[in-house]
Amino acid sequence: MEDGYFGESVAAGYDESSAEMFEPGAVNPAVDFLAALAGDGRALELGIGTGRIALPLAQRGIPVHGIELSRAMVSRLRAKSGGDAIDVTIGDFSATRVAGTFSVAYLVYNTIMNLTTQSAQVDCFRNVAAHLEPGGCFVVEVCVPSLRSLPPGQNVFPFHVSATGWAYDVYDFATQAMSSNYVRAGGELRSIPFRYVWPAELDLMAQLAGLRLRERWQDWTRKPFTGESTSHVSVWEKPATAAEVVEHAR
Ligand SMILES: C[S@@+](CC[C@H](N)C(=O)[O-])C[C@H]1O[C@@H](n2cnc3c(N)ncnc32)[C@H](O)[C@@H]1O
Repeated sequence: MEDGYFGESVAAGYDESSAEMFEPGAVNPAVDFLAALAGDGRALELGIGTGRIALPLAQRGIPVHGIELSRAMVSRLRAKSGGDAIDVTIGDFSATRVAGTFSVAYLVYNTIMNLTTQSAQVDCFRNVAAHLEPGGCFVVEVCVPSLRSLPPGQNVFPFHVSATGWAYDVYDFATQAMSSNYVRAGGELRSIPFRYVWPAELDLMAQLAGLRLRERWQDWTRKPFTGESTSHVSVWEKPATAAEVVEHAR
């Protein structure tokens, strides 16, 4: 699967099927948040997709570079106004290097979970750290694993049931593997593998990559993150000076 799980058939309907995430109420707070961190620098989006965040960020005058596995998703980005002006490198964002440094890198909409092993998620942090300028930030938006929704003995969580289809997550608690499964009435099943990951585990991955937690919020509007939060927006920063690097290593 050259384009991963976002091949032609998914890319063709991506914006429509994620319509809520394209609403100004979902996009603008994220773009405000990222633009403030980018300042006068460049932004790197991992898994840029069809440009939901990258295009409005670029419209604010911030140079955005994307890394993306799926050529089909990038062709949708290219077809949009301003899409040609955004640099995209085709590759796996846990390993692909691009030229230059960035003041902010970001990975939104639960996409870190598309890396299905812990080591790939750690590699992703290390790859981002190598791209950040001193003082630069890595921003991740991802859900808190919803294991509290599951009664004892159950590892399947249905999240959509209708006359035309249903959808459910399947969890493997031993490995943190999970999958989201979509069944359309008529028989078609689409299954996407993920690895769920805890906030504290992400902090440790950041530490392994030489980054430190700067902020954690429930959402892009900076609501406080609490034990009831179902998702988070976390910001890790790269130490700005050699003295801070030494301090961080202690
Ligand atoms: C849920 S979509 C998010 C797209 C966009 N960031 C957004 O917010 O609409 C996830 C995107 O990440 C890409 N992706 C997933 N795993 C990837 C990987 N390891 N390397 C590069 N891109 C990846 C997919 O192809 C897809 O375009």
